[in-house]
Amino acid sequence: MTTQNVTVVGAGVMGRGIAYVSALAGFQTTLVDVSEDQLKSAYEYAEKTSQKGVDRGKLTEEERESLLHHLHTSTDLVEAAKSTDFVIEAVPEKRDLKKNVLETVATHAREDVIITSNTSTISPTELGSFTNNGERFAVMHFFNPVHRMKLVEIVRGLQTTDETVAIVKEVSEKMGKETVEVNEFPGFVTSRISALVGNEAFHMLQEGVASAEDIDKAIKLGLNYPMGPLELADLVGLDARLNNLKYLHEKLGEKYRPAPILEQLVKAGRLGRKTNHGVYKYED
Ligand SMILES: NC(=O)c1ccc[n+]([C@@H]2O[C@H](COP(=O)([O-])OP(=O)(O)OC[C@H]3O[C@@H](n4cnc5c(N)ncnc54)[C@H](O)[C@@H]3O)[C@@H](O)[C@H]2O)c1
Repeated sequence: MTTQNVTVVGAGVMGRGIAYVSALAGFQTTLVDVSEDQLKSAYEYAEKTSQKGVDRGKLTEEERESLLHHLHTSTDLVEAAKSTDFVIEAVPEKRDLKKNVLETVATHAREDVIITSNTSTISPTELGSFTNNGERFAVMHFFNPVHRMKLVEIVRGLQTTDETVAIVKEVSEKMGKETVEVNEFPGFVTSRISALVGNEAFHMLQEGVASAEDIDKAIKLGLNYPMGPLELADLVGLDARLNNLKYLHEKLGEKYRPAPILEQLVKAGRLGRKTNHGVYKYED
């Protein structure tokens, strides 16, 4: 069976980006969220981002029209699950929330549907167990901003089959991505390194080693990272970053204990770009 209908669950930072590349690749894409406002803003994001693509000569007007034509939004997960071939779950990094979404999808989708999650940290074996069909489950880990970042980490759970990995790879490549295959281990490859580097930057900020701007500048110009770790944390979302660190702390030990200043920023509602204020302030 070839994949035609893709369902993306969660229209936040990641889900809207994934739905964008999916619709651009020609999949009939349904983006599902519990919030109408999030769906509206995700559709506007697709309109604006694709318009920028046309203005910069990266997309043709026809490609933009096709993308918007292939992108649908819905608050009805049950209906979306019934007619889908391939699911990408991108709700917040909370185990019980993901469990609930994956169980709902598995109950209403056809048995041969591939179900994936964009989790940054949670075990694919455990998430797969919520679908009752671990053989057809894998983690499909995208990066932010999805339309610009080239990689998808494909992470196998205990029962994930080679056929499932091959289908996830094919869908990723159709979305214009390169893939790596990773075996199950907390934090995979990228989240494990990124969380550690980011946490160290928050510790340095708290200790007064340098200003946020100078920490980021040092890492960009001295170590050749394309973004500073504090800028990146603002882009990822400080709440998402804190959740990842808590999980890695529990699984991998002391070196992942979240820096207190990160917890304080999240408590203050400074979540990064999505709230226009994190480590840095943003105009829009
Ligand atoms: N932010 C990043 O840079 C990044 C990168 C890679 C992976 N991830 C992972 O992607 C996932 C999503 O992260 P995000 O940053 O996009 O989160 P987010 O908070 O920006 O968006 C989550 C969306 O899910 C929706 N939602 C909540 N409950 C729902 C439900 N029951 N059904 C449908 N929608 C629901 C929310 O309304 C929200 O729109 C997480 O697992 C995260 O770890 C995030």
